[in-house]
Amino acid sequence: MPFYHSLGQIPPKRHTQFEKPGGGRNDGPFYYEQLFGTIGFDGMSSLMYHVHRPTMVREVLESVDMTPKLAVEKNMLARKLVGFSIEPADDYLESRVPLLVNNDLVFGLAAPRQSLTSYFYKNADADEMLFIHKGSGRLRTLLGTVPFEYGDYLVIPRGMIYQIEFDTTDNRLLYVESHSPIYTPKRYRNHFGQLLEHAPFCERDIKRPQDLETHDETGDFLMKIKKQGSLHSLVYASHPFDVVGWDGYNFPYGFSIFNFEPITGRVHQPPPVHQTFQTDTFVVCSFVPRLFDYHPKAIPAPYNHSNIDSDEVIYYVDGDFMSRNDIAQGHITLHPGGIPHGPAPGAMERSIGKKETQEYAVMVDTFRPLMVTEQALRIDDGKYYKSWLDENLNGQATQYINK
Ligand SMILES: [Fe+2]
Repeated sequence: MPFYHSLGQIPPKRHTQFEKPGGGRNDGPFYYEQLFGTIGFDGMSSLMYHVHRPTMVREVLESVDMTPKLAVEKNMLARKLVGFSIEPADDYLESRVPLLVNNDLVFGLAAPRQSLTSYFYKNADADEMLFIHKGSGRLRTLLGTVPFEYGDYLVIPRGMIYQIEFDTTDNRLLYVESHSPIYTPKRYRNHFGQLLEHAPFCERDIKRPQDLETHDETGDFLMKIKKQGSLHSLVYASHPFDVVGWDGYNFPYGFSIFNFEPITGRVHQPPPVHQTFQTDTFVVCSFVPRLFDYHPKAIPAPYNHSNIDSDEVIYYVDGDFMSRNDIAQGHITLHPGGIPHGPAPGAMERSIGKKETQEYAVMVDTFRPLMVTEQALRIDDGKYYKSWLDENLNGQATQYINK
């Protein structure tokens, strides 16, 4: 986040001696400083102080290829995926099912049953965004803990070592792994980084890490690191959560969709008013309960639109989604770039005169086409692309299909 945060103890001057109380033990009298930066030395960074050297690799074990299995590389079909059909799994990483991918991101769903406590995880390839659809718990990181609940986005910058604890076994998450850093929208920030008055949220809405854990322990600590699409297992000789203090701008945080303040108008507002996060390669938008457009002749349903340059993915969270006819919680629609899409038959007419919506949804618009994985195909309803047809036009295009 483009604001400063600090937890624990740090020396008054950076890059200076920071002595352990009592002179330390056999691991040296000083804390070990680590600069944790992004984009070379040009992006946001934090300075952290470890009890032990953070470099003590004891063993390098196996690597597992995590490359998603593709079913459709050149997709031209609008699709609807039934997200809650994703089977739960005990392990947090094994529960993650990639659905839609390109060279910039992985978009997937997960239903983890168990907390991740038996090893530590770091994604060195990508920033991660989690959206908590069901469940609550704590994201534990080397920079502190971010508690989470239904409706929270968790943004975990690349390289953050973390574990995740769930309060129950019934958890449903959306996740995005982004090779481009995930930021709040630039147009909502001034040149100092502060969120401006017209932004739909502000710094007070950001859940910062708290309750820094400092474990002064040596032994065997398994860390799984995602790098170049493979999951590498390394054993470290000291507990990864051994930071006594840190400060800076690079840290994981949470933001609740319930704190997104919608921007409305007299006529239909374009999708960017819902924008919550930006990257160089996609945007994330939040659809939340709001008053509809109030021009006397307003049409609250969206107009047909050609997102000619981007694929649009909407994950339906809750409420009655006004522009669609047959949508339930956990459904995902994919509207590929290149062809227009719009309200379902009757939805435009139905929306006229309506005063408000109670919908919640998360939208990811990618600037490059998405490929469909084998797992996505298994939960694809297979007929959504025809859902814009009036009843009397439905059926096979026999003139062409029989030839
Ligand atoms: Fe759209």
